[in-house]
Amino acid sequence: MSSGADQQDKAAEVPCIKILTLFPDMVRTVLETSIPGRAERQGQVRYEVVDIREFSVDKHRTVDDTAYGGGAGMIMMAKPVVEAVESVRQNDDATVILTTPQGETFDEALTMELLDDLQLKGELILICGHYKGIDERAIELVVNREVSIGDYVLSGGELPALVVADALVRRIEGVLHNEDSANNDSFTTARGGGLDCQWYTKPPEYRGLTVPEVLLSGHHGKIKEWRDEQAKKRTEDRRPDLTSTEDESQKR
Ligand code: 6GU
Repeated sequence: MSSGADQQDKAAEVPCIKILTLFPDMVRTVLETSIPGRAERQGQVRYEVVDIREFSVDKHRTVDDTAYGGGAGMIMMAKPVVEAVESVRQNDDATVILTTPQGETFDEALTMELLDDLQLKGELILICGHYKGIDERAIELVVNREVSIGDYVLSGGELPALVVADALVRRIEGVLHNEDSANNDSFTTARGGGLDCQWYTKPPEYRGLTVPEVLLSGHHGKIKEWRDEQAKKRTEDRRPDLTSTEDESQKR
């Protein structure tokens, strides 16, 4: 039974991203680096990295085997995956994501959805998919969502899981020091779901290339106008697919 006080305690807790992997060192190294690392040190998020091999079936630390029915490649067994999830899952209703090329494609909308989920439930579990795949029964038993980061095949689910974790963490309020820097990013609603503009820093001239005059003018209104215009142009040139929904809504 969970009382109102328990609920409050949970809400006050630091949200935890839990990553289950066969390469815990690789995952930990990335999570300690840059903004994801700083976010944890600032107490805005926690990470738990679980070595799936600790739930192996024998003394040889076996976690995979050949596929029933034949075919190339090793399949991750259900037991280590299911038990690894059960060892870190605090609540049965926690979202458990498997990274796999067969999943729904990760994007800005899914980032915000999973961020809400993390903040609501206090935990989000990511299972790093395995070379060929994992036993479908593990998916049936513990996975509620399958996510891909694009239409290409990677050697494992570690990079995709880290992509998801990074994208979420940088959207937690207060993680980025200047909130604007997230709001101006490509794909954010503040950019109308489109791409970001181009940026420049010192010096004002490099190898004969100068910085657009307007950016040196100190005229904030004109600068904003120029940036919005450039962002719009880039989106039209490079990713016309991102402008189509906006156009359609205008047509209606
Ligand atoms: Cl989630 N896993 C693997 N192995 N490859 C991918 C992917 C995921 N997303 C894109 N390629």
